[in-house]
Amino acid sequence: MSILNNEILKVENLEVIYPLNSGGNTHQQVIAVDDVSFCLKENETFGIIGQTGCGKTSIAMSILQFVQPSGGNIYFRNKNIRKYNSAELRVERRKIQPVFQDASGSLNPKMTIRNSLEDAIFADKSQKKVKIQKLLDYVGLKYSHLEYYPHELSGGENQRVCLARALAAEPELLILDEPVSALDISIQGRIISLLQKIKNSENINILLITHNLKILRFLADRIAVMEKGKFTEILTKDDFFNFKGGKYSQSLLKLHGYK
Ligand SMILES: Nc1ncnc2c1ncn2[C@@H]1O[C@H](COP(=O)(O)OP(=O)(O)O)[C@@H](O)[C@H]1O
Ligand SMILES: [Mg+2]
Repeated sequence: MSILNNEILKVENLEVIYPLNSGGNTHQQVIAVDDVSFCLKENETFGIIGQTGCGKTSIAMSILQFVQPSGGNIYFRNKNIRKYNSAELRVERRKIQPVFQDASGSLNPKMTIRNSLEDAIFADKSQKKVKIQKLLDYVGLKYSHLEYYPHELSGGENQRVCLARALAAEPELLILDEPVSALDISIQGRIISLLQKIKNSENINILLITHNLKILRFLADRIAVMEKGKFTEILTKDDFFNFKGGKYSQSLLKLHGYK
């Protein structure tokens, strides 16, 4: 396989700037992402770690095209996502699926779990039924959960629904943005196990965005360390956790109790 085909996602010199609405007429702005480049390879889980506010979610939003970057390019399987035509956009969009921190907020409150899942599956009615059953089993939900609304489920259950919904689209890239941060510690471990199962058994590539070192240690293959909009370095998980990174990486480890 050529090196080019090995790349699922390539982000080049990404820049995201938000205007600051300060009330006055000063043109203040926030540089949320500042010249970020990286590449996610086939079958890789690429982690981005950094403190809250350093720009992680803005990277995710740019890849998902929810935010218009002010500079740089994003290639998904060697195609510039900003140059998709509308037909490509419809098809390609499904291949990149996000799961966010706020599981219940990501689900439509007026839709039952069944409807949310049915909406996400691209198949006829009878196939949908079979697929839903498989997905439920896979993420560890019960058939009876299908008739519930998001507010009737726990945070962990809703996150399982979000994962099922993302997987329903059979994505090539899963973007996990703080997938366990809103959950109780006791539940976090179970969702991390589910994510490990997805990583190991699905033909899937994962971009894992987090400020949580524990989940990174379980899932990431390589880690980008982000500080104030910039990547300070990209290193293997082992190097990162063995204190082979630079000062900032080491300070993050110490901050989280690693020695
Ligand atoms: N829609 C927005 N408008 C203005 N500023 C924003 C917006 N989204 C994020 N920011 C700012 O951009 C910076 C990076 O935010 P974000 O990408 O959410 O970081 P992280 O996910 O690492 O916490 C922060 O200073 C944040 O306040
Ligand atoms: Mg964030």
